[in-house]
Amino acid sequence: MKGIEGKVAVVTGGASGIGAAACRHFAAAGARVVIGDIDAARAQALAIEIGEHCAWPFAFDAADTEQVRQLVEQGAAHFGRLDFLFNNAALVSRDVVKRDTNPVDIEFEIWDRVLAVNARGYLAGCKYAIPHMLKAGGGAIVMTGSGSGLRGDLANIAYSASKAAIMSLSRSVATIYGKQGVRCNVINPGLIVTERGRETMAPAVRDVLQRHTLTPRLGVPEDIAALVVHLCSDDGGFITGQAISVDGGMQEHMPYYADFSSGKASWE
Ligand SMILES: NC(=O)c1ccc[n+]([C@@H]2O[C@H](COP(=O)([O-])OP(=O)(O)OC[C@H]3O[C@@H](n4cnc5c(N)ncnc54)[C@H](O)[C@@H]3O)[C@@H](O)[C@H]2O)c1
Repeated sequence: MKGIEGKVAVVTGGASGIGAAACRHFAAAGARVVIGDIDAARAQALAIEIGEHCAWPFAFDAADTEQVRQLVEQGAAHFGRLDFLFNNAALVSRDVVKRDTNPVDIEFEIWDRVLAVNARGYLAGCKYAIPHMLKAGGGAIVMTGSGSGLRGDLANIAYSASKAAIMSLSRSVATIYGKQGVRCNVINPGLIVTERGRETMAPAVRDVLQRHTLTPRLGVPEDIAALVVHLCSDDGGFITGQAISVDGGMQEHMPYYADFSSGKASWE
């Protein structure tokens, strides 16, 4: 992959799931990675697995803008430059997801907590990383969105709003800094089976999502990681301002698709 070797990427939420797969992909393509995560032990373990010459763990909380600044500044100082930012951390703990309900029942505190990590945390990453990219003559930012940012759903209104917000943020970054060589894109994953997902998702829920996915299999973290690195590489050099779904076609079919294809409904 062109334009990755020797470069430096900061990955937030880098210790597990999609972020960890992205760290492994960046390192395999010859980049050095700063593994930013609230889970210090997991970030450390991943850095050891990848190799400490090219991976550096950094414990931070994306809800705290000063800690985001330290992640970016110390990461850039550690490896001597900063070329890519993968804004990916999200508040997806069970406790928060359960309380992120509907406009009538949600507590304002939950709305603020979700937005602080999933939206303001991404802005903070951009705020502190972009000056390094401008100094280097360019760079690339990728953010993890979600299909929830594109469609209405029955719950998780704060999560959905945060994912919609970063699509707008990404387009603004792409527009404002494009001529200076900074590109910015969002990837909207469908159901990606991570370690956490395997532990927390009820099999019945997984079945519903599987029925609405056009591919024979569900997603894996590597599906997203491969695109993250491509978007940062020179091969992705003409792609900016986009929100790209990597979801096995979940958003791209008629709403009645699952009923007909499962035999629950018929045209006859
Ligand atoms: N897995 C899916 O099906 C799916 C679908 C759509 C979108 N996403 C998005 O993908 C991204 C990654 O999620 P994942 O599925 O890999 O989950 P994951 O739980 O495996 O990874 C999330 C990581 O973020 C870290 N994190 C959480 N809060 C943080 C904070 N305040 N500061 C720093 N780090 C923090 C966690 O410790 C964890 O390592 C998220 O933005 C999520 O919304 C995932």
